[in-house]
Amino acid sequence: MNSLIIYAHPNPLSFNASILKTVQSTLEERGSDIIIRDLNKFFNPILSGEELQSVFTGNGSFDDVTEEQLLVQEADLLIFIYPIWWLGPPAILKGYLDRVLTNGFAFQHTSTGVVPKLTGKKALVIMTGGNSPVDYKRLGLENTPQDSFEKGVLQFVGIETKLLSLLSVPQSSSEERIKFLDLINKQLNHVLNN
Ligand SMILES: Cc1cc2nc3c(=O)[nH]c(=O)nc-3n(C[C@H](O)[C@H](O)[C@H](O)COP(=O)(O)O)c2cc1C
Repeated sequence: MNSLIIYAHPNPLSFNASILKTVQSTLEERGSDIIIRDLNKFFNPILSGEELQSVFTGNGSFDDVTEEQLLVQEADLLIFIYPIWWLGPPAILKGYLDRVLTNGFAFQHTSTGVVPKLTGKKALVIMTGGNSPVDYKRLGLENTPQDSFEKGVLQFVGIETKLLSLLSVPQSSSEERIKFLDLINKQLNHVLNN
């Protein structure tokens, strides 16, 4: 099994960094081949006018995007790890989605509608948030960060997804954080076993 981790947090001391370590060591124990893309270390998230044009005309390619697309293509399991920033992924990950999941690669417009092109792959999404479930409910935004990523992005391109959202993270105790990491391990093992 090839696992591709797409990680989007700039702080190596963050809880997201602990999640990355946990996921990596569980995958290693399970004998998975692992590639980690730590987006803040190298990725340019800006979809330029020239690049946008090339997606529609099919002319021209961008080497950095082609490299990421090859990695996605070769992966059986994609694991996204990121904090919720303004109800969605950080800009660097949003830019990755904009640039890598292109029309023609991730989905195709046809006369009968949109055809997803990344079928047969699985994803585990681990997102963390600062708000509590009660905060989200009060705002009427209970599943907004989750739905936009799972249904709006991964389902759209045909990837079967398991999603974990860990909320109230900044206020959580070290015991609660250990429980979060246990839960992640459980879900990851479940995805690997099925
Ligand atoms: C720019 C920014 C925007 C944020 N927006 C949200 C948000 O919309 N919803 C939310 O629940 N938390 C939000 N947060 C809180 C982070 O999600 C939270 O601090 C993080 O997930 C905790 O994990 P970490 O310690 O690994 O950073 C935001 C934080 C920052 C810095």
